[in-house]
Amino acid sequence: MTTFDGARPDGTKAEIYRELMLMAEGLLAGERDAVANAANLSALLWMGLADLNWAGFYFKKGPGLVLGPFQGRPACVRIELGKGVCGTAAATRETQVVADVHAFPGHIACDAASQSEIVVPLVKDGRLVGVLDLDSPVKARFDAADRAGLEALAALWLAASDIP
Ligand code: SME
Repeated sequence: MTTFDGARPDGTKAEIYRELMLMAEGLLAGERDAVANAANLSALLWMGLADLNWAGFYFKKGPGLVLGPFQGRPACVRIELGKGVCGTAAATRETQVVADVHAFPGHIACDAASQSEIVVPLVKDGRLVGVLDLDSPVKARFDAADRAGLEALAALWLAASDIP
């Protein structure tokens, strides 16, 4: 597999995400296990993006979301659909970009340090599979460039993995 020295790509956000996409393609190549690929993608995002305090997955299991592979502090395990930023992204199947989590009705505070958040829904063949969630201790950390970059990385994970 490609080795990673922990160096963080720099440049504009578009350049950083282009670089992360290439790294992710290398990282996921030849492996189709969804959990292993989610674990490595979480680690890549954690390593590659500045100003994060959480990066990881929740998977749709039964009626709600259940914690998957992540980097950061221990987090809430189960989230109901429609609850918090993750549950809203899952219920609406729309990426949620939240500049100030304290202003988001029902935000679930897993880490008091979190100030802003982005959650990308993971949808395969019309079926909700889970969400990709990133938190930041900086207000308004995420914008349209993060949305585009993370949606592309989420699509790569969906295409590169066998989804149970
Ligand atoms: N803040 C999220 C919960 C998950 S943690 O941030 C890891 C939410 O409101 O859905």
